[in-house]
Amino acid sequence: MTLTNIDHEKQIYCFKVFYAFLVVLLLHMNNPCIGCSEREMQALLAFKQGLVDDDNRLLSWGREVQDKDCCQWAGVYCSNHTGHVVKLDLEDQFLQGTISPKLVELQNLEYLNLRFNNFSRRQIPDFIGSLSNLRYLDLSYANFRGEIPYHLENLTHLEYLDLSSNRFIYAKNLNWLSNLSCLKHLDFSFTDLAGVVGWLEAVNILPKLRNLILQGCNLPPPTISSVSVMNSSKSLVRVDLFRNNLQSSIFQWLSSTHTNLVHLDLSWNNLNGSSIPDYFGNMSSLAYLALSSSRLKGGIPNSFAKLCRLRELHLEGNSLSGQLSDIIDILSKCAQNTFEYLDISDNHGIMGSVPDLTNFLSLKYLVLGGNKLSGRIPENIGQMSKLEAIDFGGNSLEGVISEIHFSKLFKLKYLSLSSNSLVLNFHFDWVPPFQLESIILRSCKMGLSFPKWLQTQKSVLILDISDNGITDTIPSWIWDLSHKLFVMDLSHNQIRGTIGNLRSEFPPKLNVSWNQLEGPIPSALSKVTFLDLSNNKFSVAAASFLCTTKDSSLAFLDISSNHIFGELPDCWIHFKKLVFLDLSNNSLSEKIPTTMGYLFSIETLRLNNNGFVGELPSQLKNCRNLTLFNLAENKLSGSIPEWLGASLPNLTILILQSNNFYGSIPPQLCHLTRIQLLDLSMNNISGTIPKCLNNLTTLTQKGSSSQTIHHSFLGDYLRGYFSGCYDDEASSTWKGFRAEFKSNLGLLKSIDLSSNKLIGEIPSEITYLLGLISLNLSRNQLTGQIPSRIGNLQELESFDLSRNQINGRIPTSLSWIARLAKLDLSENNLFGKIPIGTQLQSFDYAYGGNPLLCGAPLPKTCPEEEKGPGQPVLVNQVSQDGLITQGYYISMGLGFAVGFWGVCGTLLLNRSCRHTYFDFLNLLNDWLHVKAVIISQKVLNR
Ligand SMILES: *[C@@H]1O[C@H](CO)[C@@H](O)[C@H](O)[C@H]1NC(C)=O
Ligand SMILES: *[C@@H]1O[C@H](CO)[C@@H](O)[C@H](O)[C@H]1NC(C)=O
Ligand SMILES: *[C@@H]1O[C@H](CO)[C@@H](O)[C@H](O)[C@H]1NC(C)=O
Ligand SMILES: *[C@@H]1O[C@H](CO)[C@@H](O)[C@H](O)[C@H]1NC(C)=O
Ligand SMILES: *[C@@H]1O[C@H](CO)[C@@H](O)[C@H](O)[C@H]1NC(C)=O
Repeated sequence: MTLTNIDHEKQIYCFKVFYAFLVVLLLHMNNPCIGCSEREMQALLAFKQGLVDDDNRLLSWGREVQDKDCCQWAGVYCSNHTGHVVKLDLEDQFLQGTISPKLVELQNLEYLNLRFNNFSRRQIPDFIGSLSNLRYLDLSYANFRGEIPYHLENLTHLEYLDLSSNRFIYAKNLNWLSNLSCLKHLDFSFTDLAGVVGWLEAVNILPKLRNLILQGCNLPPPTISSVSVMNSSKSLVRVDLFRNNLQSSIFQWLSSTHTNLVHLDLSWNNLNGSSIPDYFGNMSSLAYLALSSSRLKGGIPNSFAKLCRLRELHLEGNSLSGQLSDIIDILSKCAQNTFEYLDISDNHGIMGSVPDLTNFLSLKYLVLGGNKLSGRIPENIGQMSKLEAIDFGGNSLEGVISEIHFSKLFKLKYLSLSSNSLVLNFHFDWVPPFQLESIILRSCKMGLSFPKWLQTQKSVLILDISDNGITDTIPSWIWDLSHKLFVMDLSHNQIRGTIGNLRSEFPPKLNVSWNQLEGPIPSALSKVTFLDLSNNKFSVAAASFLCTTKDSSLAFLDISSNHIFGELPDCWIHFKKLVFLDLSNNSLSEKIPTTMGYLFSIETLRLNNNGFVGELPSQLKNCRNLTLFNLAENKLSGSIPEWLGASLPNLTILILQSNNFYGSIPPQLCHLTRIQLLDLSMNNISGTIPKCLNNLTTLTQKGSSSQTIHHSFLGDYLRGYFSGCYDDEASSTWKGFRAEFKSNLGLLKSIDLSSNKLIGEIPSEITYLLGLISLNLSRNQLTGQIPSRIGNLQELESFDLSRNQINGRIPTSLSWIARLAKLDLSENNLFGKIPIGTQLQSFDYAYGGNPLLCGAPLPKTCPEEEKGPGQPVLVNQVSQDGLITQGYYISMGLGFAVGFWGVCGTLLLNRSCRHTYFDFLNLLNDWLHVKAVIISQKVLNR
């Protein structure tokens, strides 16, 4: 499900009400139906034949005498004049299969609705185009694929057309739409229209079109001629182009004539309102006129002032800039009394202070987060009694927020003030006029203790008061705040004491990381789905809390960086839903328990920095979803198990660094076709480097499909789901330092076999690993020469061969690697002239300890004969900012990682995560709740 389904849900709801009404109407009428014709009946039976109807939804469709009148069949409606079948409504019947061509016999059909059935990725049949009387056609959410048949052009009476959310359909052009001149409602959301250059021309000339809904269609920006010169239909009321590739040129089309617009959604496009586009010069004078009337001010066109009926404006997730007061100015010209919903969040460029908004008498949603707003929030916002949602999060607002800001906000349900420089100063006994559902006050300053007014909020779903400087202990009332509480984030404070060890109920998502909590970990916590206790002072034996419940619903458990000690209990059979487990940086000891092999869902397993001993239990080979496995800095021993390669096909990150593994590298590791980071450094591994390295498919490929290694999952929560997501992080030696990777971990491709006892030659197969960014073979006993094609590794930024017994000359090809920023060949037996190439000469310390090397940058000059062929190889400038460093590289130290990339990284990651939260929304049928939670998720993730 996606964001936009909410709108669909709303529509469905409306339609349901409408049809319930119709049905009641029909029941109460003396229906003079004369029964359908034999031909229509046969057509319907053929249609049924093509379908699998496991739930017997079409039970009434039969040949028996008593069933003969098909007008009485479920979902079939006949005209009360002619008796012909005019309507077929089979929405949401769980039908599966094909649509029989016999359907065409229903020539009087005006209404066909097959929404929410499953046509198993078949094409939308051409013959639908022959149902020439259709007025209403809904084939959405029906699992069709392939090209939309242009045969639909013959449906000239069509008023309503919805093909949305068939994820696999596309169109190459939409010219055929022009025949459908009665069309009022058009929804092609999530159809791939990337190749339809003239999409705007096609919809623009539909004279009666009211609703244009093309969400997530990959729409290309319209060409200037199409948006400015052509006559537009003036009937549009709702335009929803959420999540496409549009640019500000779309404004010119919208602003010229569409004065009836009520609902406009251009969110998550590439709108950039800072300047008039450059193609200015090439335009006809007509176009020029249209453009000048749409001159942009504050990121939106002046002509928006004429949209007197506008109620909802969604421009979030673009790159608009300019002053907020200009936007408000434009909107206040005409729509002031009716305007309800403004979302311009996540543009990161809207500036200025928050103006007086009290003239917007109907404003309910004010969503301005993720911009550059500054100054104070005006106190008179407290007079805007219609407000239901306020989001100012992630700006640069300052000053003190007091009761006055909320004095008449009786209806407020959603409040975000996160990540500004705001001080919250309320009277000790303040009783707010509202009952909030989402309280998102991350990084505010609310005082040293938990504010008492929170106690009055009995409907809270989401509470985030992280990073507020709270030093208090957790009051017991907080756990009883609301039985609906769904997310509680108290992280990054200095909260002391324990987490209510007598409690039995906790919210499904609880984050108390980065505090000073200690004492026991209550066993009831294992009923939680998402639990982050990391970076506290919990000093307890692992056995004291892990095994106390059966069948835990935990999907995410982070207890890293505490003082958990002792043996891990052997009860992991109860954690089958666990996707993420981080026990790193504790004092766990003894063996890794065999029941960890029951972690069938596990994708990320971090046991690093503990005192685990012994061999890896072979049962772990059952964890077939394992993607990241970090065992670094333990005392594990034994040989590297073959099953790591043979049984864990998804393994992407494998870190065995700093253990006591011995024996040779099993060739099975070459089965790890997804591996990106293979770190076996600092063990006692002997033998040769396997030749099969070229089987590591991902490492043989340049580039990467995604910047992060992202996981999303569903957990149980009441009747519905609770879904979550996270990005993996790992540390790795990077250009000689230990570095943390998270927001760019997906880009890292690295092999580190350093500090072992490897012997033999470097296999030439290594030069097939074209994607490698870092290769560290240092501190082994490798012999032979550097493979002559080493220069094939064009992505290589860090290459360390130091402290081996490599001999021979340095291959000239090494100087071709333009990105190389760290090179160490020291302490080997290399000889001859260092090849000339810009950066090879810049690595001053790369060649020491090779007495027979000569030439720059070494002081030792080469004998005359060496000077021969060494023509300088022209390469690019020394690359100080390679793939990883170029804006992606996190840091050498944690502080910076958390401070800057922590914020921006999660922002990126969570845009994708937002979608997964919508399953949870099944729980909440109330539209307002839904809206509030949408914004919450967005803001929580900001
Ligand atoms: C039945 O016929 C009447 C009279 O023409 C019409 O007004 C009504 O809308 C029809 N009912 C349905 C359900 O089509
Ligand atoms: C549309 O209808 C016309 C006239 O009935 C027919 O000739 C034509 O083939 C139809 N077009 C498509 C694409 O089915
Ligand atoms: C625009 O509309 C006018 C009047 O309806 C018509 O004469 C003209 O041809 C139209 N222009 C275009 C480009 O469609
Ligand atoms: C918990 O909060 C910390 C700090 O605010 C954050 O870094 C971490 O990602 C959060 N954990 C989860 C599971 O969301
Ligand atoms: C490497 O890949 C080739 C071809 O896919 C395969 O035949 C061979 O068995 C693989 N070798 C190893 C050790 O995985």
